Amino acid sequence: MDNKIVYLNGEYLPLNEAKVSVLDRGFLFGDGVYEVIPAYYGKLFLFHEHLARLNNSLKLIQLPILYDEQQWLDILNPLLTEDQDQYIYLQITRGVVNKRDHAFPEEIQPTVFAMCSPITHFSERNKGVKAITLDDTRWELCHVKATTLLANILLRQKAVEQDCAEAILVKDNIVTEGAASNVFAVIDNILTTPPINNEILPGITRQLIIKLAKKHQIPVAERPITLNELLTANEIWLTSSTREILPVVELDKKPVGNGQPGQVWKTMHHLFQQAKKHTYER
Ligand code: PDD
Repeated sequence: MDNKIVYLNGEYLPLNEAKVSVLDRGFLFGDGVYEVIPAYYGKLFLFHEHLARLNNSLKLIQLPILYDEQQWLDILNPLLTEDQDQYIYLQITRGVVNKRDHAFPEEIQPTVFAMCSPITHFSERNKGVKAITLDDTRWELCHVKATTLLANILLRQKAVEQDCAEAILVKDNIVTEGAASNVFAVIDNILTTPPINNEILPGITRQLIIKLAKKHQIPVAERPITLNELLTANEIWLTSSTREILPVVELDKKPVGNGQPGQVWKTMHHLFQQAKKHTYER
């Protein structure tokens, strides 16, 4: 096992020494929230935005805001090394209880865990990936970045079993997002993505792409996308902190556009790489 140093409740420990009680509500109920924060050139990327989302997730599940931005940076920065693209996985649960009870305990001492891992998806990015569409079977709080991910993992697993990199989820004929990513489609030359609501996670990568598109005069729209629009789109992308912007070249066994990563993807991929560098140089 990779015995890297991880953070658990105020301590830095080798991974194999980091232990959590079986009475932790994260273990018992999946009662917690998390963040995945990329780091490039040894620096956390869009940390302010990730922290704002984390604090919103905490609020939505009625957990206290634990630390301010500087306190978090002091906790997380020692986990980073400078030599490669990495991400921090940060998880906060409602903590350890003395009996299993669905209702919250009166006293809350949240469990805080963080570790750093390399980002390793580069090989699939330039040639694109296959995806399938599936019914979105998840709950109504998809804007909370909750550790309770059973529906998401069952959906992703179905995609993997069909040799696909992701499941694109559809609810009542409207595209929501990927099992662990947001979705963009180029429709009538407009970069289009579903609007923010409780049916999708407000992706930080998504947010940056919209900002970059607006800044560089790429027409962009946040509006509902029908399944049929997705199936006939010129380009489809999946976006996330670990996969960045991943072109989908085959959907439900049919080619997307000409079956190659498209021109808008190439432009946005380039702008995204520049934005990564820019943070480093600041
Ligand atoms: N997931 N939607 C869902 C359901 C996700 O799980 C993710 C990311 C995103 C993209 O969000 P962002 O751009 O902020 O990473 C959208 C992370 C990477 C994960 O669960 O590992």
